[in-house]
Amino acid sequence: MSILLRSLTLQAIYAATNPEKFFAKIQQSEGDPFKLKFPIGKETLFTGTPEGAKELFDAPAKTFDPTLPNPVSPLLGENSLILLKGERHKQEKELLMPLFHGGMMRSYGGSIREIVNEEIDQWRSKGCLTLAPSMQTITLRVIIRAVIGVTNKEREKTVILKVSRFLAAYTAPLMLLPWMRKQAWNYGPWAEFQKAKKALDALLNQEIELARKAGGSTDDGGSLLSKLVFMRLPEGIGLSEAEISDQLRTLLVAGHETTATALVWALYYLHKYPRVLERLVRELSSLGASFNLDEIEELPYLEAVCNEALRIHPVVPIILRSLNEDFTFRGAFAKKGTNIGIATTLLHSEPRIWPDAKEFTPERFLGKSYLPYEFAPFGGGARRCLGANFAIYEMKVVLALVIGQLDMRLIDPGKRARPVLRNITMGPNIALKAKVKSKIAKG
Ligand code: HEM
Repeated sequence: MSILLRSLTLQAIYAATNPEKFFAKIQQSEGDPFKLKFPIGKETLFTGTPEGAKELFDAPAKTFDPTLPNPVSPLLGENSLILLKGERHKQEKELLMPLFHGGMMRSYGGSIREIVNEEIDQWRSKGCLTLAPSMQTITLRVIIRAVIGVTNKEREKTVILKVSRFLAAYTAPLMLLPWMRKQAWNYGPWAEFQKAKKALDALLNQEIELARKAGGSTDDGGSLLSKLVFMRLPEGIGLSEAEISDQLRTLLVAGHETTATALVWALYYLHKYPRVLERLVRELSSLGASFNLDEIEELPYLEAVCNEALRIHPVVPIILRSLNEDFTFRGAFAKKGTNIGIATTLLHSEPRIWPDAKEFTPERFLGKSYLPYEFAPFGGGARRCLGANFAIYEMKVVLALVIGQLDMRLIDPGKRARPVLRNITMGPNIALKAKVKSKIAKG
């Protein structure tokens, strides 16, 4: 192993600034599975092969716990689905899953369309946009609308402000240096974060109270919050205020930066590869002027573009588990308590499955499906992403509306973007800007 790969701090910097190269190099020099230790957290046994991913995803749920400490625990709260273990995780996941079924998702289509069209109008009037913040605005507004259900514009502004303050207050040092999570009187980053969390929780509690008073329904339509308030665990018990708030914060955190980053990669590659863009534009031209959103489910190339964007640069580059019992992993003994992980960047460039993996080729998804341990942008097994269908649906609606209505040109198209760690996702290392003008009035 090179000196560079032997220093924990240098390793962490290398992994955060060039994850694809870092994981490829270490797998090359160590074989698979390979061990890694970063300055925070325990040594982890990683795999980048479909065989390794299969062993992890196929193992019984009780084999694994979530890894702790989790750098984003303070954002989520101890009752978050992401941090729950065993039977409690199973029960709450079963409770939450119906919130993301097909009909429910489609009931948010109208809101997504409205929000995207409002944002498009703003880009049009400016003539340009920066991809990452623009996609973040859309996905933040969408997730707030879906989770809390605010449609009143003034109220929406207040909610966006409180959620944005809460997310921004959790700075990188707080995430990476747990010793900073201490309050010095009422000052400093931790105190600021606590204030922002308190303000958001007060707002969520207000909304929970309003939903309880209004009497809920579990029908499609209505916010996730209003449904969660009336859902019952198998023993007939509902969730407490604190449990509901933690799950709502989890959906807000997990459900917007991820989708925004995936959309940025999709738009980047569409405008980098004119052949791909032309093919998508052709497919979208089959839609009528004010198409029904159900029609986008029938567009195979649009779906292939979303999948290829999630393959080429997986937004969440590692999937982690902690062993709750001794386990044989890739033929080797792994003790209870060991951390095991999948390096998705390696899995998604495995040459046996993905020839020319560095090329953006949506065609590889046409008429071909991949196994869950070959293509795993949303993880897998008992802890697979709760919002996967929601994310894909949102990506399709956003891309159909943006590509259908706008002529977009990347400013500086020659610049090559590669993934780096940005908050909780792997986004482009450069600010991607584009010029826009109207194509045709549609949407
Ligand atoms: C492109 C967008 C997204 C990507 C790439 C993504 C990816 C992931 C990944 C890799 C995991 C870990 C899975 C595992 O450990 O096996 C995860 C978990 C999770 N995601 Fe997502 N996600 C996205 C969007 C969303 C959205 C929109 C929501 C909610 C509205 C969401 C909610 C969650 C939750 C609650 C979990 C925890 C599941 C559990 O522990 O059982 N995600 N996501």
